[in-house]
Amino acid sequence: MKKFNLLIVGGGSTWTPGLLKSICVRQKSFPINRLVMLDVNEERQKVIGEYAKVLFREEYPELDFKYTTNKEEAFTEDIDFVFVQMRTGGYAMREKDEKIPLSLGVIGQETCGPGGFAYGMRSIHDMVELVNDVRSVAKDAWILNYTNPAAIVADALQRIFPEDKKILNICDQPENLLRSYGRLLGLTPRDFDPVYFGLNHFGWFTNLYDKEGNDLLPQLREMILEGGFRPADYEQRDKSWLQTYSMVEQMVRDFPDYLPNTYLQYYLYPDKVLKKLNPDYTRSNEVMNGREKRVFEECQRVAEAGTSRESKVVHNDAHGEFILIVAESIAYNKGDNFVVILKNGGIIDNLPSDAMVEVAASLTANGPRPYAVGEIPTFYKGLIEGQFAYEKLTVEAYIESSYQKALQALTLNRTVVSAGKAREVLDALIEVNREYWPELK
Ligand code: NAD
Ligand code: G6P
Ligand code: MN
Repeated sequence: MKKFNLLIVGGGSTWTPGLLKSICVRQKSFPINRLVMLDVNEERQKVIGEYAKVLFREEYPELDFKYTTNKEEAFTEDIDFVFVQMRTGGYAMREKDEKIPLSLGVIGQETCGPGGFAYGMRSIHDMVELVNDVRSVAKDAWILNYTNPAAIVADALQRIFPEDKKILNICDQPENLLRSYGRLLGLTPRDFDPVYFGLNHFGWFTNLYDKEGNDLLPQLREMILEGGFRPADYEQRDKSWLQTYSMVEQMVRDFPDYLPNTYLQYYLYPDKVLKKLNPDYTRSNEVMNGREKRVFEECQRVAEAGTSRESKVVHNDAHGEFILIVAESIAYNKGDNFVVILKNGGIIDNLPSDAMVEVAASLTANGPRPYAVGEIPTFYKGLIEGQFAYEKLTVEAYIESSYQKALQALTLNRTVVSAGKAREVLDALIEVNREYWPELK
């Protein structure tokens, strides 16, 4: 069985320990020869890297592992896969993305609305640099990207590297939702053959077929309407995530055709969600005081103790496993089905062909083979077209350094709507992002 060389970019991410654990668990199905972790932050990288050494000594002794902040050590011609999960500006900037819009009475969120806009304008720069760095040495490596806002990153990379067929943008939320549906039905995500359409963090499941070809979605809809909805790993979730999942019931009641991605709450009920958000304590505060603290303290403890056997640092969500099973399907030409982000090109008949859509596809060694979705109904088409126009204008604002396009983008966003508000929020975000954004003219 071929063994692969893997590079993880953003090795100091809070999600890395979970990913490393999945790498250990899946060493038979996805054997790795060399693993390198790269980060720009030496301190973060060291804590997670030292944890990794202990974990691998115990669970993956033959793995050739190192961590670094030196690009030259990380980018080598023999890389097969690059997993990317970077956060330009860190949680400090995420906090601003969330709090500045909220202070002006608009949704403040990591990937949705003006927060996602600001984060996108920061991510594009580093992601373009990353792709150039990888391609300068490894022309054929697969780049699997988690970096958010994945919708905007995917759109930007598609425009800047149109010929590159080995960049795949992914999101773990459809997979988390499949896990949560599975919990209700006693099934696993791989028991479903899903039909899904939309943009990243802006889509719907239309059918959930089982192995016999029965559509389980109507049954799930009834279960959600009767008993509400919780994430599969609800015992480990923070309050805000439980609140988010609970909004699915309302969405299904109002729009019962399909099962919605949880992120649609911000676009469908911005007024209601806004009332629940605390402008002084946002999700980034919850993460900094929760996941980030826990992960870094626990990794330090493991490194000092010299054993990871008793460690509870790993979360039970889809993140780590999902990117690995996606990679396995490509690596061994398995053709398994996953919901991923792809250039539309007719998959969804009545949406622009250059939109980066989120749909089910069979993943092979020659890339994704998407399943046709056909035409979507007017309501969903209208919502998606507005959101796509916002995303496209965001990317154009970045590429052209255009203030006008940035203003148009935010005005189109359903969490903003008012052009006056859009200008106010944009001007405030420009102030704090000078170090990261192109100067908008
Ligand atoms: P984090 O800040 O803990 O981790 C990100 C790491 O990236 C940090 O250690 C940071 O120093 C590093 N970094 C920043 N810029 C870099 C660069 N240019 N090159 C290399 N490393 C760089 O953040 P997190 O919450 O753990 O999330 C990591 C990323 O994964 C974010 O982009 C997040 O939005 C994304 N994510 C995406 C999904 C998805 O569904 N697509 C799911 C979970 C997380
Ligand atoms: C989901 C989304 C990701 C998001 C993640 C973490 O998995 O798909 O895109 O980054 O949640 O969000 P959090 O608020 O916990 O950092
Ligand atoms: Mn996501």
